[in-house]
Amino acid sequence: MSTVLITGAARGLGLDFTKQYAARGWKVLACARKPGALESVKGDIHHHPLEVTDYAAVKALARKLSGEAIDVLICNAGIGGGRGATEQTLGTLDPEVWRNVFEVNTLAPLMMAEAFADHVARSQQRKLIAISSILGSIANNTGDRYFYRASKTALNMEWSCLSKDLEARGVICVALHPGWVQTDMGGPTATLTIEQSVPAMVKVIDGLKPSDNGRFLQYDGTELPW
Ligand SMILES: NC(=O)c1ccc[n+]([C@@H]2O[C@H](COP(=O)([O-])OP(=O)(O)OC[C@H]3O[C@@H](n4cnc5c(N)ncnc54)[C@H](OP(=O)(O)O)[C@@H]3O)[C@@H](O)[C@H]2O)c1
Repeated sequence: MSTVLITGAARGLGLDFTKQYAARGWKVLACARKPGALESVKGDIHHHPLEVTDYAAVKALARKLSGEAIDVLICNAGIGGGRGATEQTLGTLDPEVWRNVFEVNTLAPLMMAEAFADHVARSQQRKLIAISSILGSIANNTGDRYFYRASKTALNMEWSCLSKDLEARGVICVALHPGWVQTDMGGPTATLTIEQSVPAMVKVIDGLKPSDNGRFLQYDGTELPW
């Protein structure tokens, strides 16, 4: 039996990752602040309460799960920091929002990766996935949304570093862009439904090989420019 750990597992993309892996008979370590919708999902689902920026709790969970081999770890939890002209536009920048966005989107995934690297390295599949965003691509930048973009750019650099540092242990580190998806974050006008994005990402994760280590891909497997 394979095991996946997902952060932000009770809502949006994380909830659908939970449903997809549970439906395939995987053991799902579903990390979420509150169980919420997880309670109605059928399968081998284990809810672990986790605020991802509580690093003592992250380490404690890693110790609690020290017997687990985690085939796929998905650092999914994230925040947008507001998309309106008042939050992340030049002339209105609020440093406190920057700190929050970086804490959740950039620091927390790295602390998860550090805490759970051994669990992933001892598994069969050894896949460490960051849910990033095309908005973090410097090559693709159109400006605005400073905090969110920069937090995902920095997340990408972390995953690039992890791909070097964990390569000798056979861990495949990949940053994945889900597309623009109709979640609370993506909003109702997003171009993709959750059902178009998450199963496609699961397929991409399924197919990852050691030669994919260090890549930045979108939900359908297309390579993205850094
Ligand atoms: N939707 C898009 O179009 C899109 C595009 C590119 C990238 N992404 C990325 O995809 C990921 C998931 O986004 P989504 O669209 O599913 O957003 P969402 O519907 O807003 O869900 C965000 C998830 O992150 C969790 N979360 C936020 N802060 C957390 C914290 N401090 N501790 C623990 N959990 C926390 C939330 O948990 P609670 O329920 O407890 O708040 C929720 O499960 C994010 O990393 C996002 O940046 C999304």
